Order: sequence, then structure tokens, then C-alpha cells
Amino acid sequence: MSRTTELQEKRQKYVSRGIGNGNLNFAATAQGSTITDIEGREWIDFAAAIGTLNVGHSHPRVTKVVHEQVDKFLHPSFNVIMYESYIELAEKLSEIAPIEDAAAALFNTGAEAVENAVKFARRYTGRQAVVSFTRGFHGRTNLTMGMTSKVKPYKIGFGPFTPEVYQAPYPYMYRKPADMSDEEYVDSVIAEFKELFVATVAPEAVACVVMEPVQGEGGFIVPPKKFVQEVAAFCKEHGILFVADEIQAGFARTGTMFAIEQFDVQPDLMTLSKSIAGGLPLAAVVGRSDVIHAPTPGEIGGTYSGSPVACVASLEIIDIIKDENLTDRAEEIGARIEEELKGYEKEYDFVGDIRRLGNMVAVELVKDRTTKEPAADIVNAIAKYANDNGLLLITAGIHNNVIRFLTPLVITEEELEKGFAILKDAFESVK
Ligand SMILES: Cc1ncc(COP(=O)(O)O)c(C=O)c1O
Repeated sequence: MSRTTELQEKRQKYVSRGIGNGNLNFAATAQGSTITDIEGREWIDFAAAIGTLNVGHSHPRVTKVVHEQVDKFLHPSFNVIMYESYIELAEKLSEIAPIEDAAAALFNTGAEAVENAVKFARRYTGRQAVVSFTRGFHGRTNLTMGMTSKVKPYKIGFGPFTPEVYQAPYPYMYRKPADMSDEEYVDSVIAEFKELFVATVAPEAVACVVMEPVQGEGGFIVPPKKFVQEVAAFCKEHGILFVADEIQAGFARTGTMFAIEQFDVQPDLMTLSKSIAGGLPLAAVVGRSDVIHAPTPGEIGGTYSGSPVACVASLEIIDIIKDENLTDRAEEIGARIEEELKGYEKEYDFVGDIRRLGNMVAVELVKDRTTKEPAADIVNAIAKYANDNGLLLITAGIHNNVIRFLTPLVITEEELEKGFAILKDAFESVK
């Protein structure tokens, strides 16, 4: 029996079935965008730990600072005694955030950042309600499950959820009614958004509106600029805080440091995680300093919040993004993936839509281009083929019919070509 089979059997027995696995092999080493498994096989990484590895696996500058920090101390806990890297990172994040006079607080995971953004917003406004969006994803804790949209597998059987969470509509250009122009459709979704505050919850009861500037799990749906701007303006008018959930879209992924910058909107708060620390558990809420300083000491925090090992990694990553010009690189790679997919669009009639912002690229598959019936079975077959044959590939979408591309932003031309060759075979296998 191979070591892989042995471990797979143990995984079945000892690890919760509730945790999903896209690829059933076991990593041994990883560098850049290539993973070598314990049998010595190579895997090209088009998933980057679900958007966590914008600077790639084991970037030498990141591993160096991590090693250095590990030799100094692991975790004195910021609540007990402070350390420099936490302060430096809070300062750096406040400087690079598209928010005037910002401050920050650090956490461990994306869901924790979202929970805390809501805490800051509630404390600052004295209001309780939270508005999120259809098809949004914000995490797996009780509050963030409630804010999340996809019922299966994220919510079913796990209620009740926290009260005072409301879901607003979010435009989906590919699936707009056929008889509406783009403009009519966007205006109608804006009107529906505003209607929520008449029919369902009073604006003066709402602490914050939490929006992904590009929906991640929802299928890489890029909203029209006008929609994002109107939502932000509505929030401003009613004293509601506008929170950009940049956990998947942030840190250079979309061609700017933060995706919200491309919508010319200044959020009140941003939630960050994933690529903020290149694989180490770290998250942040960055926002208007008056909001971040609203809670009194002890109201915010956590034993592991802002691990010093993760903080030094994050500081280095911010420099790497600049030094290696990864925001530009995101756009170049994104365009390259789009070009590849455009070729598939001509060949495979199940390709329904190709969309992207920078290097958040998705292809949505359908059974029929006119009815647009989602083709989850084809997506699953392609992802399985890829994951059996040397390419880490992940899916998304409320109907599970989207393939999403989250390559590291340091991926080489050679790695991209190897990945595309497997991807092409995967598409051929379902023809
Ligand atoms: C936009 C967004 N928000 C929140 C989360 C939750 O992050 P975590 O899984 O670290 O709790 C995710 C994770 O995919 C995400 O994409």
C-alpha cells in the first residue's frame, strides 16, 4: 500500500468528513506555484490555498523572516506584552489602506475579521442590524454563516443564526433578464437594494453593510462600479458603515492592492486575511480610526490575535508585492488566463461566461448558452480530472458551476503553460 493510500484511509477514519478536500494527495514540499507530493509527483497550483498565496509557496524572503522570528520568540500574546511587528504592521496596513486616517486590529482568520468588523460597527454606531449580499461568503462562524448566502453546504443544519442579519441583492450581469439593458438591470438592482431599507429594515437600525468588492465563493462576480458607488453613497447618507470584505480579493489579487480601489469608493472598514500573511493565520480589520478606537480596552482581541510570526511575514509580503510589482503582474497573468479561456469558448459550447478583475478569473459553465442552465456536473468532472492529473483547480458559484483561477501572482510562464496543458485535457475529457 502506498503511503498516500495509507494516509487517505486514516483521513477517512480520523478526520471529520465535514471538511472538504479538492485534491486527495499529500504535499511534501512546495515552491512558487509547484507542489511536490509525498510520492514525488508535481502539482501546478492554480488555487494558491484559496487565494492565500499571492506571493507563492515558500517565498524565500518570507521563509527567511519567519525563521528569524521563530528563533526569537513565538507568541508572548499582544494582550500580555507587546511586540514591534504588531505595531509596524498596524501602521503599514493603515498607510496602504484606501482610507484616510486609518487604524487597525489584528486577528487570525477571515471569519474572525468579519465578526470583528461587525463588532466595531455596532459599537461605533450603537446599531444592531447587518446587511450582506446574496451569493456573498463571509465564513463559517455563527454570525458569518448567517451573513453567507449559499445554503448548501454552508448553512443547512447549522441554524439558528444570529438575528438582525439581512441580505440585499447583488447584480449578476451574466444572469440579468434578457429583456433588460445593462443599465436598466443595474438600476433595478440598486432600486431593490434601497427597497430593503423600506420594506425590511430601517436604515437607522443598520450598523454596517458588508460587501465583497468581487464575490469570491459566489463565483467571481464583478459588480458594476455604479452599484458599488450607489451602495456606498446610501450608507454614507444614512450613517451606515460600509465594510469591504477584501479577504479573497485583496492584497494585489485584482491588479490593485485592494479591489475596492477600482470602484473609487472609500470604505469605512476593510476585512483582510488570506494573502495578508502568505499562509500563516492572520487577519485584520483596517478602518477609520474613530471607528477602530470606539471599543474600550478588552472589548476586542483574542489570545492568538496578531501572531508575531505572521506579522513579520505580512510586513515582508507587503514589500515583496511592491518590489516584484505583483499588482501589475496580477493583471498580466489574469489577461493570459482569460486569453486561454477565450480559446475554449470557441471550442466548447458549455462555456457560458468568462469574467475577471485582475487575476480573479472565472469561467462559468452551462448546459445551454441560451437557457444558461448551470452545468455543475461538467465543472466537477473538469476539477476532478485536473486534480487527478497534476493541477490544483478549485470551483465556486452558488450553483457549483464555476471554475475559479487563483494562481499565485509569481507563477512563471512555464508553470502556467504546464497548468494550461492539463486544463485543456480536462476540458477535452468532458467534451
Ligand atoms: C470574502 C471572504 N470572507 C471571509 C472568508 C472567511 O475566511 P476564513 O475561511 O479564513 O474564516 C472567506 C474565505 O474564503 C472569504 O472568501
